[in-house]
Amino acid sequence: MADLRTTYLGMELRSPLVASSSPLTGSLDGLRRLEAAGAGAVVLPSLFEEELATPGAAAGAYLSLVEQARQSLEIPVIASLNGVSRGGWSSYATRLEEAGASALELNIYYVSSRPGLSGNDVEWHYLDVVRAVRRATSLPLAVKVSPYFSALANMAGQLVESGANGLVLFNRFYQPDLDIEAMEVVPTLELSSSVELRLPLRWIAILHRRHRVSLAASTGVHTAVDVIKVLLAGADVAMMTSALLRNGPDHLRPLEVQVRDWMDRHGFETLGQLRGRLSQRSVPDPAAFERANYIKTLASHAGRGTGR
Ligand SMILES: Cc1cc2nc3c(=O)[nH]c(=O)nc-3n(C[C@H](O)[C@H](O)[C@H](O)COP(=O)(O)O)c2cc1C
Repeated sequence: MADLRTTYLGMELRSPLVASSSPLTGSLDGLRRLEAAGAGAVVLPSLFEEELATPGAAAGAYLSLVEQARQSLEIPVIASLNGVSRGGWSSYATRLEEAGASALELNIYYVSSRPGLSGNDVEWHYLDVVRAVRRATSLPLAVKVSPYFSALANMAGQLVESGANGLVLFNRFYQPDLDIEAMEVVPTLELSSSVELRLPLRWIAILHRRHRVSLAASTGVHTAVDVIKVLLAGADVAMMTSALLRNGPDHLRPLEVQVRDWMDRHGFETLGQLRGRLSQRSVPDPAAFERANYIKTLASHAGRGTGR
């Protein structure tokens, strides 16, 4: 039977199927069900910087979730912090470590609407936060980012230099919509679909083996085909939230079977044999991951409508 073990942030996981941060990973019951269904690791919901600033219930409850999860699960438990400033992390990161977190995921998302702030300033700000958290903990550290950088390949390298052991590509946030009857802004959060996999797929393929860093694919992983795609592109793990919220933790069971079946059919015994097979560096046409095929793609679409 195909071996699904993988290494993520220096930890050996039994499977590359990881439950990303969501309300499902926020209860012990949800976490147990995910482990039973075959998750290789779990990422807890984020503790927000604002919750830390007002000491009290939220931070205490979070530490106790980490402790309970550590006691009842065998798989790695990754704690998650969400913040945009460098302060406040140090003592808390130590307490997460003491509570038994196996690793830390730092979720930084920052929309700058200040015209005076340059891309360089914003990037520096990200790196400053990563360095502060790196100093505060010796836990393996993953940084979850958005795709909205002008030079993501370069930024990825700087994040690694600042102390990231892993990159989670990508975070997916709600984007406000407008209600034209009530004339107000409404927050919307829709679950993803497999179509959205293309963005992380491209960047995983581009970043595979560029830096010494683990890569996690997040956004749009729903099916076994999606999982196999991100592994071929070069991911170490495939993270899932929407698929698990929609179908429940047991969704992982058939996925694992289907990934193994595919590996058997293609003669792969380990993930190492297939990881990165279709990364940018491994394919005959590396430009396929960049803009070069744009014209061809557009032309093929135009051809469909006109019957050419
Ligand atoms: C209801 C909900 C809550 C989420 N909460 C968090 C969170 O606390 N921290 C975080 O880093 N990501 C959070 N996410 C983002 C997911 O971890 C994931 O990155 C995103 O949903 C894209 O993956 P998917 O396509 O598998 O859903 C949340 C997503 C949803 C749908």
